[in-house]
Amino acid sequence: MTPFVKAFFDEATFTVSYLVREPEGRACAIIDSVLDYDQAAGRTDTSSADEIIRYVRDNDLKVEWLLESHVHADHLSAAPYLQGQLGGKIGIGHNITVVQDTFGKVFNEGTEFQRDGSQFDKLFTQGDSFHIGQMRGDVLETPGHTPACLTYVIEDAAFVGDTLFMPDFGTARCDFPGGSSETLYQSIQKILTLPDDTRIFVGHDYKAPGRDEFAWETTVGEQKALNIHIGQGRPIEEFVEMRDARDATLSMPRLILPSLQVNMRGGRMPEPDEQGDVFLKVPINKL
Ligand SMILES: [Fe+2]
Repeated sequence: MTPFVKAFFDEATFTVSYLVREPEGRACAIIDSVLDYDQAAGRTDTSSADEIIRYVRDNDLKVEWLLESHVHADHLSAAPYLQGQLGGKIGIGHNITVVQDTFGKVFNEGTEFQRDGSQFDKLFTQGDSFHIGQMRGDVLETPGHTPACLTYVIEDAAFVGDTLFMPDFGTARCDFPGGSSETLYQSIQKILTLPDDTRIFVGHDYKAPGRDEFAWETTVGEQKALNIHIGQGRPIEEFVEMRDARDATLSMPRLILPSLQVNMRGGRMPEPDEQGDVFLKVPINKL
């Protein structure tokens, strides 16, 4: 069975959200959705998510899963908003607990912030499988960018989150707390053991030198041959040296502080205060 994949690109954060559906049938899953956020105003907006909702309703689809590849640091997840409108279960990797523990400390959260992953409906581990209608999904743990990163392999389509990007852009950064370039290298090798014609759908695209259009679909075979960071069997030592040197030059993503606080809660805002107002924190000199 070959799933039909519809991409939704958010140019504000360079994020690709995906809707993967049965070729014939109504079942679908939504992967890595975006809640728009105006940092300067502290204001959320559901335009991007509403576009997905429109697509689901226009095509009379049934959402079974809202999948997160990881706790994103560059955009807020719209999973709970989509769940309220469309249903479906929210899933993420079981190592979300590690991420919650790390950032629970960074943001000095109280005990009301549960660090057990209970904000999600399903915590996946390596080797788990699940269904979207008649389609089968398999879970690969692919940490390195973060400890909880997963790749969802749905029939012939691998949703790799932030591991590999397009071959001409390379790979994801590994310098967030809990990240590791050695670990990312091993995770990518795991992805590259999939059949060469496996379709790969990446979590972000930033264009690349010599390419002036956004792109997000490639294959395992193309990655093995052409990925500028890891193709042609690049050895781990070379990759780690290149990745760590490059990461040292990168600034933090624009929305990292709001993104982490919301996404570690499964895409929900912190509890409101007595007046019903919601606040996010800015820890100083912590990241
Ligand atoms: Fe990410």
